[in-house]
Amino acid sequence: MNNTLSTTDPRTKLISSKLKKEAYKADALIEVLHTAQNIYGYLPIPVLAYISKSLHLPPSRVYATVSFYHFFSLKPKGEHTCLVCTGTACYVKGAQQILEKIEQVFHLKPGETSKDNKLGIQVARCVGACGLAPVVVLDDEVQGNIVSEEFTQTMKEKMGLL
Ligand code: FES
Repeated sequence: MNNTLSTTDPRTKLISSKLKKEAYKADALIEVLHTAQNIYGYLPIPVLAYISKSLHLPPSRVYATVSFYHFFSLKPKGEHTCLVCTGTACYVKGAQQILEKIEQVFHLKPGETSKDNKLGIQVARCVGACGLAPVVVLDDEVQGNIVSEEFTQTMKEKMGLL
């Protein structure tokens, strides 16, 4: 497994604090995986490696657990993913408007993926960058102070629609 997980990514801090809260106990694996999936929208391999190392569990055990439960996903939903943070700070600063704008432009609601599998929309409760609210993670890039109009343009550009 690739072990690299960016230490500057606010999501890494959220996982670290969850691991700390669970006292790095191996039996907290499912709890921690839930947290990670809620933050990332799926379970990237470097995140699994990080969890496995932190809980002192063999990577094979972590991978087997993820594969066993159907609610865990190893793949992002859609070629491009847009995860809108709907945690308190982001909600107050307009997360709902971002979701409405996305729905208006791309005709997709949270949890949906476009028919051509180009774009998947997801929501998370907090991605750990509250100071930048409202926050969206577009293809693994955490973006803050989002203005919905401009953001949907950025999404189109990224998807090659402009
Ligand atoms: S509530 Fe959105 S980053 Fe924390």
